[in-house]
Amino acid sequence: MMKGCNFNILKGTHVSIALLTLGFVTVMLWAWEKNPFLATLLLAQQNFRLPSSDCNYAKGRWVADSRRPFYSGFGCKQWLSGMWACRLTQRTDFSFEGYRWQPKYCKMAEFERFSFLRRMQDKTIAFIGDSLGRQQFQSMMCMASGGEESPEVEDVAREYGLVKPRGAKRPDGWVYRFPNTNTTILYYWSASLSDLVPINSTDRASDVAMHLDRPPAFLRRFLHRFDVLVLNTGHHWNRGKLTANRWVMHVNGKPNDNKELEDVRNAKNFTVHNVVRWLDSQLPSHPRLKTFFRTISPRHFHDGDWNTGGTCNNTVPLTGGSEVLQDESIDRVVESAVRGTKVKILDITAISQLRDEAHMSGYSIRPTQGINDCLHWCLPGVPDTWNELLIAQI
Ligand SMILES: *[C@@H]1O[C@H](CO)[C@@H](O)[C@H](O)[C@H]1NC(C)=O
Ligand SMILES: *[C@@H]1O[C@H](CO)[C@@H](O)[C@H](O)[C@H]1NC(C)=O
Ligand SMILES: *[C@@H]1O[C@H](CO)[C@@H](O)[C@H](O)[C@H]1NC(C)=O
Ligand SMILES: *[C@@H]1O[C@H](CO)[C@@H](O)[C@H](O)[C@H]1NC(C)=O
Repeated sequence: MMKGCNFNILKGTHVSIALLTLGFVTVMLWAWEKNPFLATLLLAQQNFRLPSSDCNYAKGRWVADSRRPFYSGFGCKQWLSGMWACRLTQRTDFSFEGYRWQPKYCKMAEFERFSFLRRMQDKTIAFIGDSLGRQQFQSMMCMASGGEESPEVEDVAREYGLVKPRGAKRPDGWVYRFPNTNTTILYYWSASLSDLVPINSTDRASDVAMHLDRPPAFLRRFLHRFDVLVLNTGHHWNRGKLTANRWVMHVNGKPNDNKELEDVRNAKNFTVHNVVRWLDSQLPSHPRLKTFFRTISPRHFHDGDWNTGGTCNNTVPLTGGSEVLQDESIDRVVESAVRGTKVKILDITAISQLRDEAHMSGYSIRPTQGINDCLHWCLPGVPDTWNELLIAQI
């Protein structure tokens, strides 16, 4: 696995690294004399830590690359929703498909689907989150299959109890297995990452208890089956969505009476911290599991929003620059929630912020007049990069 960092890039700090190294060697020699066993442990820990702690995949730049995209937007019909396949719309500019993210300090091997699937032999990759999580899942399916017809890939949703309820538009998730490597890729819809329980289970119009301090039942039930887990949430945390979904905040099993949490931003922060804390507590008993929290996917509505006719009609890539240089994530909520835990951040916010031209924008397979989608992305497109960054860190 390529996760080492290229320290040679840090030219200005060569001397200080040399001094640090010298200091470290001196300490180790001293420790060795006192306690060889402890010294070995220390050394092992240092080796283990060095690469990941200094290497931030979110710093780097977009570069044009003729080896992109990984799959054709005309294909992958098995998994790619028509509504996100920009090649199937009236859109005529596709330069957005031809870019690659180049991290500044981390090595990232070129994605190759067969070696990826071999690496994921007998493993399960789970995406749990909102529609942006579903986009990342579809992107992953298209990348892993090359977007080619793959009749051998099995639909194993039933193993996870994911069947479309009668009368529903779609199931709550999808699960597919690549039989040659026994690799399973899964998506489960949980827009808020809280447990949703109808208050009256026999009444379809019932309010739904949204347990902010309890991870979704699906996640709790199947965590032991996952090897890689990617969570996300974000765009459903507003009053309009809560009201439309009849979600009623609950804490401690009771309707929320904490004034602070009535502010949806605080409720989101509370929930994200809770789910991360819970996951972190589960990791010691799930040693194979690698968990990531994907930061929020930026939207680019200019002059308003969905409802007020906001647009994102720029078609020229990288007009706002091509580089990300800051250390901190724009998504302070996720960044602070994972700090000090073993849950990793998959920081895609600033990277994606530079790609305002790569949304669905005004095009759609069934033209809906006047609606601009400046939230979801064309596929192939930006979510493929999120997966490259994920794969590099698995
Ligand atoms: C496939 O992988 C799972 C673990 O994810 C394992 O339990 C199962 O036995 C494997 N199946 C085969 C046919 O090897
Ligand atoms: C639940 O909903 C059903 C059907 O609308 C209704 O008959 C029943 O009284 C409700 N139960 C409670 C406890 O409100
Ligand atoms: C988010 O929640 C954490 C944990 O409860 C808290 O420490 C932090 O101050 C909160 N951040 C914001 C921006 O409210
Ligand atoms: C893009 O949208 C803005 C705001 O609605 C509009 O003024 C402008 O003419 C549009 N540009 C193009 C190229 O369509």
